[in-house]
Amino acid sequence: MTKRSKWGTNLGFLLAAIGSAVGLGNIWRFPYVAYENGGGAFLIPYFVALFTAGIPILMLEFALGHHKEASAPKAFRHIDRKWEWLGWWAVTFVLFGISLYYIVIIGWCANYMFFSLANSWGSDPNTFFFEKFLASSNSGVWDINGFRWPIVIAVAVIWFINWLITYGGVEKGIERAVKVMMPLLFVLTALIIIWALFLPGATKGIKHYVTPDFNKITDLKVWIAAYGQIFFSLSLGFGIMIAYSSYLSRDANIFKNSLIVGFTNSFYEVCAGFGVFSILGYMATRQGREIGEVVDSGIGLAFVAYPTAISLLPHGNLFGFLFFLLLIIAGISSTISIIEAFTSAVMDKFELSRRKVITTICIIGFFGSLAFTTNAGLSWLDIVDHFLNQYGLITVGIVEALIVGWLYRTDKLKAHIVSNLGLSGKRHKVFDYVILQLWMYCIRFVTPIALGIAIIHSLIREFGEPYEGYPISGIIVLGVGWILVTHIFAFGLSGLPWRGDEPEEKK
Ligand code: TRP
Repeated sequence: MTKRSKWGTNLGFLLAAIGSAVGLGNIWRFPYVAYENGGGAFLIPYFVALFTAGIPILMLEFALGHHKEASAPKAFRHIDRKWEWLGWWAVTFVLFGISLYYIVIIGWCANYMFFSLANSWGSDPNTFFFEKFLASSNSGVWDINGFRWPIVIAVAVIWFINWLITYGGVEKGIERAVKVMMPLLFVLTALIIIWALFLPGATKGIKHYVTPDFNKITDLKVWIAAYGQIFFSLSLGFGIMIAYSSYLSRDANIFKNSLIVGFTNSFYEVCAGFGVFSILGYMATRQGREIGEVVDSGIGLAFVAYPTAISLLPHGNLFGFLFFLLLIIAGISSTISIIEAFTSAVMDKFELSRRKVITTICIIGFFGSLAFTTNAGLSWLDIVDHFLNQYGLITVGIVEALIVGWLYRTDKLKAHIVSNLGLSGKRHKVFDYVILQLWMYCIRFVTPIALGIAIIHSLIREFGEPYEGYPISGIIVLGVGWILVTHIFAFGLSGLPWRGDEPEEKK
């Protein structure tokens, strides 16, 4: 049996886990979700979600991976062989689903990093993005036409960088890379936020971001948005945190690590919101428009609103270059984590060499990403993203909480967390009997119920009207199809015989 890789230091692990959590979701998704769902008041459901599902599930994934020293499929098989597929499914749909288009978006950022230098979008960033850059087909999902070559090339480069980093292994590859990338990411973020805060009109934007609308809090949709944001942003249900914590030294403090990762991720996204809304405030002021007219989510924000602002800003070219560089770094530190999670699963079960596995994944991944680089790429991305996020991550979260909470008995994991707390006497007891007891209740009751409501609510909406008015054929083939095919693949992998040491069943 090959020896399990290890992080060089606990800090290396923290940087890698934070690198996975902090991604495009923090920079362009959170600010908009917060703005739309009650501004400052959104922080209430958001922090409730962080404490009742985010940190508890993060702690569960860390504790499980660390305790079993195993990737997701192996860790679940330890609990009961029936559940091995869940681990495979998580790493499969994230790697061969979410990552495929996530890397395409990073590829757009790479193009835009250079476009910023030359202001390539001219005076109409909207037309430039949709009609020139993406050359989106108007007639929809099945109007594929051909590849957008500048995107294909960028995607090849991004996959290559991912390969380069993960090929080196846990300590010499990932840990080394995040020790450079994460400090750079933090410095760039601070620079951009400070730059933005001092622009005229910034306060106007910030006011819109933080002004609380308490009426929204009674709306179920707002709560569902909060849980959804926490899940995607903290990389929960991806199988990533399980793999990352399996490389920790035996005496690592799981409780402390979960809090650090959970809080840093939220702190980062709340701060990012100030930067994003300052820029929007500046832009609205310059153009004499209202914030409501210039604000946009995700793709529209980064590739239409921001370019507009960049053209208006003094030294906007540099600002744009740094902003897109920031997105690229945040994105790559996330994608390497899923490549590692899948590789670790394959190595655990089939004892294959890391290098062969990684090279194969990156080649297949590159070809898979091509599906999102055609003229129909944008609508494909939109559909696959919606289905995998709404149903994939949340399903894994519910099932994982139920399996660990009821089948495995959470007290075993609790005992594992307690053993490394490094506390003694009264404080130890308080942690053991109060805080971790609350954690167990969250895992057994609160998390599955909250996520269950969210998923039922989404399903009802799905049957009401097709998502975003896409043709049913597109939704079934791309959305439902992607879920089914990755499921079949996961069942297939879990049915193959073990070559690595097979976990014995323990109840
Ligand atoms: N948490 C990341 C974010 O907020 C998303 C993410 C993490 C991700 N790991 C990933 C996306 C792997 C794709 C592949 O953006």
